Amino acid sequence: MRTLATLAVLALFAAYTSKAAPKTPVDPSKAPLGLEKAKLVEAADNPYSAAKYELGKQLFFDPRLSGTGAMSCSSCHFPEEAFTDKRATSKKDDGGMNTRNSPTMHNVGYLDRLYWDGRAKSLEGNVGAAWKAQIGGKPEDAAKKLAAVPAYEKAFQAAFTAPPSEANVVQALATFLRHLRSGNSAFDRFAAGDDTAISPAAKAGYELFAGKAGCNVCHQPPLFTDKLFHNVGIGMTAEKPDVGAAGKTAFDNPEKTGAFKTPTLRDVAKTAPYFHDGSVATLREAVALMCKGGIDNKHKDPMLMDRGITDAEIDQIVAFLETLTGKVEFTPPVLPQ
Ligand code: HEC
Ligand code: HEC
Repeated sequence: MRTLATLAVLALFAAYTSKAAPKTPVDPSKAPLGLEKAKLVEAADNPYSAAKYELGKQLFFDPRLSGTGAMSCSSCHFPEEAFTDKRATSKKDDGGMNTRNSPTMHNVGYLDRLYWDGRAKSLEGNVGAAWKAQIGGKPEDAAKKLAAVPAYEKAFQAAFTAPPSEANVVQALATFLRHLRSGNSAFDRFAAGDDTAISPAAKAGYELFAGKAGCNVCHQPPLFTDKLFHNVGIGMTAEKPDVGAAGKTAFDNPEKTGAFKTPTLRDVAKTAPYFHDGSVATLREAVALMCKGGIDNKHKDPMLMDRGITDAEIDQIVAFLETLTGKVEFTPPVLPQ
């Protein structure tokens, strides 16, 4: 007969074998469910390595990179809000205000043009610019500060076999962001065959989104963006509207007046407030505005029109969009002292 002690040991063993096998950490080099067919925009001179990713993750959260020492990239890109910041617009390190809303960092590795107006042609270019413009980074000073931290010195050697430099910091940050992916949402599980993964209302919402409401013309799966630029009328009634993609540093093309990048709708339930100027507070209001065909102006994209979507149907579309929240297992880094 088994003694109590034996039973206890057996129970412990069962617990050990079921739990102790360490939970497989998410491998950033692999696409999550739903994004297998999306193509990452890679940089030939900056291939992925786990060492670069981990270093970039630390740098993203480290105020040592900023001019004042008080801000980091994560000051406007909070991990728990899909790397947005809940504010319409945010204050930069130099005290100046942004005029546009902080976008999500999830799945930016799939974009070939970045920023709301598409002015950055690569993630590395974007990151280098954001470092200076948003957090007042002075790359040479920052490189010195990082080199004085033994754990960083070691991490740069491991990732680049070189000490910290402007180029290495940019490459590490870009590697981290390129592989910061969000998939495996309830909708992805539904699309993969689990019919119970989303509610009947969300299913009806998806039918509308891809059918009668015509949303997927621009918000194309799997990223729910066509990566193109359209004028849907946001901010166009302002005295001096933001010209967006028409700008000199972007496409320098007046035909793109008031056009902005179609934002991904993955994680959209977490990224309020909405639109390039953060002018709309809730997801329901944003969806209702789009269902009405946006805001009229002479540059508005004709693909967006009022298709007579009812209030009940708007609720269904919102229910669908809420199923696009990814399952992202993200643990913020511990910064070296
Ligand atoms: C003060 C707030 C703030 C800080 C700090 C900040 N950002 Fe941003 N970020 C923004 C805003 C606002 C935009 C959109 C600007 C635009 O489109 O003109 C943006 C856009 C981006 C984009 C483009 C995303 C896309 O979908 O096109 C990337 C990438 C990015 N930031 C990375 C960074 C990195 C890396 C840092 C740190 C070096 C950083 N940001 C710090 C506010 C901030
Ligand atoms: C013609 C292309 C186009 C169509 C069609 C379209 N959208 Fe959009 N959508 C955009 C663009 C571009 C933006 C960003 C506009 C801006 O901020 O100036 C946007 C923004 C949004 C946002 C805000 C997201 C955020 O992160 O700020 C939501 C929500 C949205 N659209 C939902 C929808 C829904 C629902 C439909 C269908 C009724 C739809 N869209 C149809 C292009 C389109």
